[in-house]
Amino acid sequence: MTRGPVLHSIAGLFGLERPKRKRATHVFDINEPQPIRLPPKPASRVGKVSLWAYFKLFKKDILSAQPARLYRAWMAELRTPFFNSYMCNDPDLVNLVLKERPMDFPKSERIRTGLKPLLGESIFISNGALWEHQRRIIDPAFEGGRLRTVFPAMWDSGMAVVERLQPLADGSPIEIESHTSHVAMDVIFRTLFSVPVENEIASAAFSAFREHQQAQPVANLLSLLPLPKWFPHFHSRRTRRTAATIRGLIAQLTEARAQEIAASKAPDDLANKIMTTPDPQTGKCFDTEEMIDQVAIFFLAGHETSAAALAWALYLLATHPDWQELVAAEAQKSFEPEKIYFSTMSKLRHSRAVFREAMRLYPPVPMFVREATCPERFRGRDVAPGAQVILSPWHLHRHERLWERPDEFDPARFETPNGKECLRNAYIPFSAGARVCPGSAFAMAEGPLLLSMLVRAFRFEAVEGKVPIPEAHLTVRARDGIYLRLIPRDLDAFSNKAEQ
Ligand code: HEM
Repeated sequence: MTRGPVLHSIAGLFGLERPKRKRATHVFDINEPQPIRLPPKPASRVGKVSLWAYFKLFKKDILSAQPARLYRAWMAELRTPFFNSYMCNDPDLVNLVLKERPMDFPKSERIRTGLKPLLGESIFISNGALWEHQRRIIDPAFEGGRLRTVFPAMWDSGMAVVERLQPLADGSPIEIESHTSHVAMDVIFRTLFSVPVENEIASAAFSAFREHQQAQPVANLLSLLPLPKWFPHFHSRRTRRTAATIRGLIAQLTEARAQEIAASKAPDDLANKIMTTPDPQTGKCFDTEEMIDQVAIFFLAGHETSAAALAWALYLLATHPDWQELVAAEAQKSFEPEKIYFSTMSKLRHSRAVFREAMRLYPPVPMFVREATCPERFRGRDVAPGAQVILSPWHLHRHERLWERPDEFDPARFETPNGKECLRNAYIPFSAGARVCPGSAFAMAEGPLLLSMLVRAFRFEAVEGKVPIPEAHLTVRARDGIYLRLIPRDLDAFSNKAEQ
């Protein structure tokens, strides 16, 4: 790996334009050097702080609580009175923890406690034999071939969001994250239960999710806090109430579906597949309670993440109009006038590259944690059992010793030798190895499809003075939302129907 230059640290903080290279005004060629417009990056912490001060900074925002040296370090150790944490940016270590010996680095008990009220014994927080059983049932539902079946539902969600945005597309600023959140939840409901988010139970669940996220916005990251294991996890009354409401609504959907399956009247969607797939080793299907746990994580993991990635991708296109025009032209060419087929997805190359690059710069899950179970030696240091092992897509994806021009938006980078190598070794928006996100192929179809549909329908423009500052909540969101202006493009050919 070559050492990439330490670039534009100050300009990068505020997403300021650096007109260093000549701006291309003619036809955009992705092989030509493009002007540098650095996307926003949060300011790093300056200097050393006490544990208590770190704790306070962390609670405010985990990204800006970290020092800038983590963008260059192969490993960083945080010693606390209760345990030590090791952030691993060395690709060999990431590989070891996620791919080579994942069972020796299970999910941390701290995460389990934090998420239990909502997720019960869901696959996201389970370990060992239970997790293996759950994965054997869930994986087949997300296999490549199944995507073909759920594709028309994704398309319908895309049509619905375009319709929702049309009356708002008059050039005035719109907060786009709320809309990407809406469409991502719509995709989950349509693909899982064949109902749109406007369905009575679905919309009640969506509202309860929003409230739950406000009540406990960093649940997934709480395990990074330097607290001892015995420290009680306080779930506010609001957290427990919203979790119970969500689970009650999911129970209604799941029980209704169980009856449809029993009457052989169930649609061929993800819920149907998951509820009727027996574990090939034990022959057992999920019971209702187990299914509620899994649906809760699909809603949580599959909705916030996709919403965040889509919102950042739209912002990046708004600030890089040359790429936006490429994606729009590609969509215009690829979507046939009458019917849209799943095979269309392979034509959306620019859109995929943009979505991939958006998740490099703004990985929806910025960090995740594992726990060492046996004594380890990482880069010459002893790691004791019980230590927290932190994998940080946020730092790995912007690592200055791995990526060339790490803070620049350049979807074409994945065609370069450096981009290809980093894609293999230093790109983990979906994690990797045995516990890789089962929804990754689903998300890589959904994201580029929605991006293309939106950019085909509207031109997105940045709003002066409104630079979104990334912050880690449950996912990487903008501190005060992402504001964009939408201008309608020609929608004449926009009444297509999707086919598998
Ligand atoms: C852009 C979209 C998405 C991103 C960036 C993403 C990212 C991730 C990451 C990083 C993990 C590992 C977390 C950890 O180990 O702590 C994960 C796990 C998971 N994701 Fe996703 N995800 C996305 C979409 C989805 C979708 C659409 C679904 C399902 C509908 C889904 C379901 C899950 C589940 C069930 C797990 C737990 C897997 C296990 O522990 O075995 N995700 N995701």
